[in-house]
Amino acid sequence: MRAYIAGIGSYAPDKVLTNADLEKIVDTSDEWITSRSGIKERRIAAENQAASDLALIATERALKSAGIKAKDLGAIIVGTATPDMPFPSTACLIQKQIGAPHVMAFDISAGCTGFLYALGVAEIFIKGGYDNILVIGADILSKFTDYTDRTTCVLFGDGAGALIVKKGDGTRGILSSHFASDGSSWQLLHQPAGGSRMPASIETVEKRLHVIRMQGNEVFKLAVRAMSDAAVKTLRAANVSPSEVKLLIPHQANIRIIEASAKRLHMPMDKVLVNLDRYGNTSTASIPLALDEAVKTGRIDRGDIVLMIAFGAGFTWGGVLFEY
Ligand code: UT7
Repeated sequence: MRAYIAGIGSYAPDKVLTNADLEKIVDTSDEWITSRSGIKERRIAAENQAASDLALIATERALKSAGIKAKDLGAIIVGTATPDMPFPSTACLIQKQIGAPHVMAFDISAGCTGFLYALGVAEIFIKGGYDNILVIGADILSKFTDYTDRTTCVLFGDGAGALIVKKGDGTRGILSSHFASDGSSWQLLHQPAGGSRMPASIETVEKRLHVIRMQGNEVFKLAVRAMSDAAVKTLRAANVSPSEVKLLIPHQANIRIIEASAKRLHMPMDKVLVNLDRYGNTSTASIPLALDEAVKTGRIDRGDIVLMIAFGAGFTWGGVLFEY
């Protein structure tokens, strides 16, 4: 018995922030952003949109694509680094909004790997007897981005993606997964204030401590190593070779990280989905946004083998291999 993807939906806000727009805000250039990251534009949530608002639209689309109703759901798991509020969970807000039954609903905090972690947890619950699990990746990093810091503000965008994961009896579904973490370098990517270590105060606001702090070049090196490691271990666990993979869907943080990871796997770039040029790094939303695009544009079909790999704050990383 395998957990398989029965439906998918995604949503990105309408507002587009281009590299040319950023040139007017900070000392940067389209040339620098494009050559160093591959990003051309990103979507930015409206002032009144929170993570659950984006997730709600993605969820409605996923339910429709799976042909089920909210009342049929067996659990709700949301991967997010930017929940509507510290508590209650964004998953509970979604449960109310869609009118799902009183099912288990919770968030997972694993940085940009949050969506894959959530999918991994859903698979375990499916094997334990649950069915019709709503798995979401939703993030609004723009609300935690310092638009005076050119080293981070050019990278991030907003979005959400949702899957309906079902119990199957055929061959399709999740073939293997691998998840890992290493907290020893957490300072390289974090949001200093707003938690119990440094609660909100006038000082934390004045010192801009409620925004993303990242040492990009250090994170870069760790990301390449971890994403490659996740890919190799996930493939090995299912005894599948890279040549059998129809499409690699990596977390969309930086084109150079993606290219380096693909190179280590000896996978040509035409077998890799890249959409960060249009969305930037959308954290937990990046993989479901890309997966939805792969399905809608016909880059994957039922029966194809797909490998998803991610890396994020924590640090966390992981891979999920599945037959679509
Ligand atoms: O989501 C998961 C976690 N996040 C990531 O995986 C992101 C990983 N890191 C990266 O993607 C890259 O490190 C960045 C795109 C953030 C930066 O690229 P880089 O090639 O590592 O550049 P760098 O940080 O080493 O900076 C090189 C130079 C510096 O100037 P100096 O010291 O050489 O004079 C920076 O000040 O580029 C400068 N710089 C910029 N210049 C123009 C940094 N940001 C900008 C900018 N525009 N936006």
